[in-house]
Amino acid sequence: TNLQNSHKIHFFLISVFSQNWSKLLIEEENPEFWRSKAKQTLQSVLDRKLNTNVAKNVILFLGDGMGITTYTAARILKGQLQDQTGEETVMTMDTFPHVGLAKTYSVDFQIPDSAATATAYLCGVKTNLNTIGVSAATRNGVCRSQKGNEVTSILKWAKDAGKSVGIVTTTRVQHATPAAAYAHSASRSWYSDADLPDAAKTDNCTDIASQLIENIDIDVIIGGGRKYMTPRGTKDPEYSLDLSSWGTRRDGRNLIQEWQSMKTGKVAHYVWNKTDFDAVDPEATDYLMALFEPGDLRYEMERDPSTDPSIVETTEKAIRILQKNPRGFFLLVEGGRIDQAHHAGRAYMALHEAVAFDNAIAKGLELTKEDETLTVVTADHSHPLTFNGFPFRGQSILGKSPLWGTDFLPYTTLMYGNGPGHKIINGKRPDIRNVTTSREFSCFPAGWTCSSSVRFFLLQMIKTTSSSLPSP
Ligand SMILES: *[C@@H]1O[C@H](CO)[C@@H](O)[C@H](O)[C@H]1NC(C)=O
Ligand SMILES: *[C@@H]1O[C@H](CO)[C@@H](O)[C@H](O)[C@H]1NC(C)=O
Ligand SMILES: *[C@@H]1O[C@H](CO)[C@@H](O)[C@H](O)[C@H]1NC(C)=O
Repeated sequence: TNLQNSHKIHFFLISVFSQNWSKLLIEEENPEFWRSKAKQTLQSVLDRKLNTNVAKNVILFLGDGMGITTYTAARILKGQLQDQTGEETVMTMDTFPHVGLAKTYSVDFQIPDSAATATAYLCGVKTNLNTIGVSAATRNGVCRSQKGNEVTSILKWAKDAGKSVGIVTTTRVQHATPAAAYAHSASRSWYSDADLPDAAKTDNCTDIASQLIENIDIDVIIGGGRKYMTPRGTKDPEYSLDLSSWGTRRDGRNLIQEWQSMKTGKVAHYVWNKTDFDAVDPEATDYLMALFEPGDLRYEMERDPSTDPSIVETTEKAIRILQKNPRGFFLLVEGGRIDQAHHAGRAYMALHEAVAFDNAIAKGLELTKEDETLTVVTADHSHPLTFNGFPFRGQSILGKSPLWGTDFLPYTTLMYGNGPGHKIINGKRPDIRNVTTSREFSCFPAGWTCSSSVRFFLLQMIKTTSSSLPSP
């Protein structure tokens, strides 16, 4: 009966006259507008010449957790930040001539994490959850199973081919995505030696931070993660009073100093703030290590532009340093905090991260030539972010539906399938232990926008409403 009741749904139209209607372009009412657009699109595809050159440079832009819904919502936000309705906005990543889809499952899980996926797209090998730069013969967290099962990455292949190589991320540089470019680790969380369990130490596994400077001669390293590089108790230069930002290493090594002495005879800069970063002349720099935070960088919307550069600025600096090599370069640019914001259920942060990421892609295209540079934009996995209801055209992507639910309460256009927004019954999540969810009921447990008759009813209402609106 409960399920039947939930089918009896009534929607209440709350706001008919949204000021966004006035933004609706009159030209869109003209059929010729859409037909000429279709012709233009078709013509530009027909005019395209297949680029069969061998790429000298490769840039891989990786939006962590940037699934299709995030991508679409970020497109709308990008347009709305420019005072457009948003849906019709063309992001830089929309302009790429080829598109494809990939299956992201890991060897052991239906839904993968960033470690398993990074190993797949950087090393070409699907593997187990939480493991980095190793095949699926390695067990998560078991150092002993790592030996002999290491797999190499495109960053290493590029370096071996005489190219310059770099990583740019908005997370700590030891985080799963960049780590798979240079490290081999049975666990993604072995950031510094302090994170290694005793068994892993006995079996001679090393932490990710030490592998950052030891495995491959990386030309450009930009992101966060200072605290994994310095001995325990080393004060952070920016947050000297915050103990959680201090160095964590127990082996007493200072990997930043070690890196600097390894590069003696070359022009190698280590910087931790924007002043020094801005002063780095790419034309006169062989190596750059820039670590702007003890851990992950700040969200773009919380970034202090006077102390920390944006992903657009870091991408530009990296390309300018790397592109001096006549044999070319490989660069990984990660928009790493799209994912982290989604984990926290913060769509506002996630979408702004994705817009900043798109701006970095534009910078990459501006600084390189298509006939010698392969630029790939992709994501590693998605997130349970969904679109709901029928928001009007041009309505804030971070806003609420104009239609309310049967409970007389509004709901947001964007919702998470997990996290803090879940259904509450008697102050708790419903206990589904005795509910068979594999039967045909489609409405359990999420709620009510599931019946096709409901949709039909809703569409009718929208139609009635819009025909009663005054002409713009
Ligand atoms: C670890 O390294 C030490 C010293 O080189 C060596 O004696 C030991 O056998 C190694 N342990 C394993 C499990 O490889
Ligand atoms: C940036 O870092 C350098 C090197 O540690 C330091 O001398 C300088 O004072 C820092 N600048 C700012 C604005 O923090
Ligand atoms: C599930 O069913 C069992 C057996 O009927 C019952 O003892 C238990 O209380 C039920 N649990 C919940 C959470 O409903």
